[in-house]
Amino acid sequence: MDIIKAPRGVRDVLPDESWKWAYVVETARKVADAFGYDEVHLPIFEHTELFSRGIGDSTDVVEKEMYTFKDRSGRSLTLRPELTASMVRCYLEHGMSKRVQPVKLWSVGPMFRYERPQKGRYRQFWQLDVEALGSGAPEVDLEIVTFAVYLFDTLGLSNLEVVVNSVGCPACRPVYREALKEYVGSNYDELCKTCQNRFERNPLRILDCKNEHCREIMKESPGMVGYLCDECSEHFQKVKEGMSLLGISYKEDKNLVRGLDYYTKTAFEVLSGELGAQNAVCGGGRYDNLAEAIGGPHVPGVGFAAGIERIVLTMEGQGCDFGRKPGIDVFVAIADDSARKAGLKLLYDIRRDKVSADMNYSGKSLSSQLKMASNKKAKLACILGSAEIQKGVVTVKDLASGLQEEVHQNSLMNHIKQYIVR
Ligand code: HAM
Repeated sequence: MDIIKAPRGVRDVLPDESWKWAYVVETARKVADAFGYDEVHLPIFEHTELFSRGIGDSTDVVEKEMYTFKDRSGRSLTLRPELTASMVRCYLEHGMSKRVQPVKLWSVGPMFRYERPQKGRYRQFWQLDVEALGSGAPEVDLEIVTFAVYLFDTLGLSNLEVVVNSVGCPACRPVYREALKEYVGSNYDELCKTCQNRFERNPLRILDCKNEHCREIMKESPGMVGYLCDECSEHFQKVKEGMSLLGISYKEDKNLVRGLDYYTKTAFEVLSGELGAQNAVCGGGRYDNLAEAIGGPHVPGVGFAAGIERIVLTMEGQGCDFGRKPGIDVFVAIADDSARKAGLKLLYDIRRDKVSADMNYSGKSLSSQLKMASNKKAKLACILGSAEIQKGVVTVKDLASGLQEEVHQNSLMNHIKQYIVR
């Protein structure tokens, strides 16, 4: 029988990588605190209609990429492909319009999309999602972009490009849609099959096509910005002015429409050259009509989501620092069997003092225990044998220099703590 392996497109995050993830999430948590965003945990699966109505029936995500299944009572459920629709549902379900607006939330967790796996693109991937709900002010768009930029700065990322566009609103988009169709219509035969299908149903999606030839054709297409109504145009202007005021450099991309239908006004992405084809570290924008699309009242909102795998890949590519490397502080080594009980007690005492410590329970020789200590990247070994017990001391060995000294048991914790903060 073959050993069962993980399904295609999903991956195990092993200890040599998981500490990097922890660093990214901890950093995000600090930035969220600084910006006044509260953490929420949302369900991994939701009613399918939440996504089909929220994200849009003719998007790739809904049409081709959702993991949808019937539960035992025949309800259609979907593993969340993203968090924005769930965040809006959560806001509505818990009557958050009664709180001070905007309600600012963030979350982190796995998302699921049936996509073709490649570097930086998986079928289960983690997103860090940040949303501000209940305000239409352009300053909130600015805050969201600033959150993303500041987070990446804090993580030490460089050479990122912020691209922005405005995708307008239901008042101005139909006029643009017609102008776009007119342009696309004259190039229809040259488009890929998928884009030809998109032509009637959702021509804006053609702007998102990854096919080189379609991209070439769309380079000359009209941009939404030329068709914005006064309100959208003023909103976009304020967001851009704000970015200039805060020193955030950005590029306008007239073809940036993003892959989800709920966007209105601001759309943005942060791109990294490190990532190859899947170059977006994060993407987001405003979605003023999403709450209505899922059956609620009008609740404007804006947010972004960043892929944890892509952040880590970019940080690795740029040689960024991930904070404290994994490893323990102290390894308790037993020189002879008579010290075993004292060793167990010492280990527990050290751990209770919030210092990371470990030992080996299988009666190995002292030299193999010290080898294990190095493998576990311990800083100190606390060696205990009958001689130490008699004298009331512990032999403390600095595993980097090899120097060792006897330390009285009463001052051991102070000694260890002084050493590990060095
Ligand atoms: P999205 O552009 O679909 O937007 O995804 C956001 C980020 O998630 C991407 O920039 C990328 O870093 C990561 N990502 C997406 N798909 C994959 C994948 N298959 N494998 C690895 N990473 C991936 C959204 O999901 C919106 N909900 C963002 C948003 C929040 N808009 C407003 N608020």
